[in-house]
Amino acid sequence: MGRRQYLLCFFLLCLITSDRGLVKGVVGLACNWGTQSTHPLQANIVVKLLKENGFNKVKLFEADPAALKALGKSGIQVMVGIPNEFLAPLASSVQVAVNWVQQNVSSYVSRYGTDIRYVAVGNEPFLQTYNDSFLNTTFPALQNIQAALIKAGLGRQVKITVPLNADVYQTESGLPSGGDFRSDIRDLMISIIKFLGDNNAPLTINIYPFLSLYADPHFPVDFAFFNGSSAPVVDGSISYTNVFEANFDTLISALEKNGFSSMPVIVGEVGWPTDGDISANKDYARRFNQALVDRINQGQGTPKRKTPPDIYLFSLTDEDAKSVRPGNFERHWGIFYYDGAIKYPLDMGNGKPLVPAKGVKYLARQWCVMSPDASISHPNLTSSVDYACSYADCTSLGYGSSCGTLDAKSNASYAFNVYYQTVDQRKDACSFSNLSTLTKIDPSQNSCRFEIMIDLGTHETTKRSFAGRNENPATVMAFISALILIICGAY
Ligand SMILES: *[C@@H]1O[C@H](CO)[C@@H](O)[C@H](O)[C@H]1NC(C)=O
Ligand SMILES: *[C@@H]1O[C@H](CO)[C@@H](O)[C@H](O)[C@H]1NC(C)=O
Ligand SMILES: *[C@@H]1O[C@H](CO)[C@@H](O)[C@H](O)[C@H]1NC(C)=O
Ligand SMILES: *[C@@H]1O[C@H](CO)[C@@H](O)[C@H](O)[C@H]1NC(C)=O
Ligand SMILES: *[C@@H]1O[C@H](CO)[C@@H](O)[C@H](O)[C@H]1NC(C)=O
Ligand SMILES: *[C@@H]1O[C@H](CO)[C@@H](O)[C@H](O)[C@H]1NC(C)=O
Ligand SMILES: *[C@@H]1O[C@H](CO)[C@@H](O)[C@H](O)[C@H]1NC(C)=O
Repeated sequence: MGRRQYLLCFFLLCLITSDRGLVKGVVGLACNWGTQSTHPLQANIVVKLLKENGFNKVKLFEADPAALKALGKSGIQVMVGIPNEFLAPLASSVQVAVNWVQQNVSSYVSRYGTDIRYVAVGNEPFLQTYNDSFLNTTFPALQNIQAALIKAGLGRQVKITVPLNADVYQTESGLPSGGDFRSDIRDLMISIIKFLGDNNAPLTINIYPFLSLYADPHFPVDFAFFNGSSAPVVDGSISYTNVFEANFDTLISALEKNGFSSMPVIVGEVGWPTDGDISANKDYARRFNQALVDRINQGQGTPKRKTPPDIYLFSLTDEDAKSVRPGNFERHWGIFYYDGAIKYPLDMGNGKPLVPAKGVKYLARQWCVMSPDASISHPNLTSSVDYACSYADCTSLGYGSSCGTLDAKSNASYAFNVYYQTVDQRKDACSFSNLSTLTKIDPSQNSCRFEIMIDLGTHETTKRSFAGRNENPATVMAFISALILIICGAY
């Protein structure tokens, strides 16, 4: 080897090692990308946001064409979901599944180089609140999708899974070691897990410590986070200091009890919301998510599973069109605001801070507010605010929320503005019985953000429905069921 070559090699080697040094300890993070938003970020901006923040795995709730295209050749691995409404048709024939895989998986893999690794069949289909609606169709749909993947030549590359809520298991003793599957679905769970195992596929579970606190104000706060060492749950030789590990290990016990001790498990959703409830705030969200990200970066498992599971954070951004049936917090799970702006600092690994979305195009810098000379005793004020809030997202106005302490006038201004922005600053949209007016001065105060929406480039022609676009009742119901487990599990 010549001297020059030697130097070049040495230089390259240094480059590689120094790069290694930089990413050491950062294994890559995973998160959910939900799109139930009136003003979603452009898919290519989201993909950049994911990459710049160290996410190399993403979960989609449906085969969103723009997302799947933008993820092509991005280096990000994709789990693509199938909504519950598709389960019945997919269960009815292999041909339907073959078509689904062809159109929603194969075409993106071959044409765009999208690195699809999992198909998530259904979303929490066995929630008790669904009254068994998907009990008969989930397993056959899973089998048909698996057959279709094999037929498409993707059997090795793309694995199937079913994201389930933690209410598929429970513990009568109240301790993780007492974990077993819910008796009404135990046989079905065993069939599904056996099938997943036979196909080298994982089980996926969603865990929500936030709901422990939401359901019970007396729930020990430290235990909802990761440092409840002052009052641990003692289970034989194990001391549990947090509800996340206790919940996860309840599942591991259920798997062991039924002969699946080595079944791989993915955590499909876990996170903390920042608004819409007294316990949904930036301090708590930061505390929870920082501890979670640290665990992931350290490769930390649980007492019963030393190998850390893949953990998909819920969620990347806020979604203002989600159903609020579980509570007002439902639209505020993002580590970023709806537009990819940073909510609170997070160390993503080795001191790497969050990076906000770039290249976002906004509507004009103007807000619709209550006119200074309008009176709060105007007979139409209440109905105007109600009207605005029936179309747009007013979940930040509630008790304990980021805009919960506004006076009546600012409160009305918030409602008028969020409506005005949601309808893309339509010309006639800031005219509530002459109670409102436009301003160029940002009315935001303290924690309360008066948003300006993203410019979708559609303006007057926009035909969006603002109430519950792509309503996803599965996630909604997830919360209620998680409560049941957590309360009944007596953590
Ligand atoms: C997926 O494929 C099916 C055809 O089987 C199609 O009807 C559906 O709209 C596609 N897209 C999504 C998002 O599921
Ligand atoms: C389930 O049944 C209950 C009681 O019969 C009913 O109130 C509820 O709407 C049903 N839910 C669904 C998702 O069908
Ligand atoms: C599921 O199958 C059982 C047994 O065939 C049947 O009694 C039940 O009504 C079915 N449920 C649904 C939601 O179709
Ligand atoms: C848990 O962590 C929080 C914030 O880091 C701290 O304020 C609290 O005292 C800790 N609790 C225990 C029991 O260590
Ligand atoms: C603010 O508006 C919300 C939504 O209409 C309403 O529930 C609340 O009572 C209002 N608060 C005040 C102080 O006017
Ligand atoms: C609003 O004000 C304009 C001009 O001041 C007036 O012509 C109109 O009747 C008012 N509309 C309502 C609903 O009060
Ligand atoms: C109140 O609203 C009604 C219905 O939109 C409208 O006809 C009426 O003029 C409004 N009253 C005032 C005082 O603006």
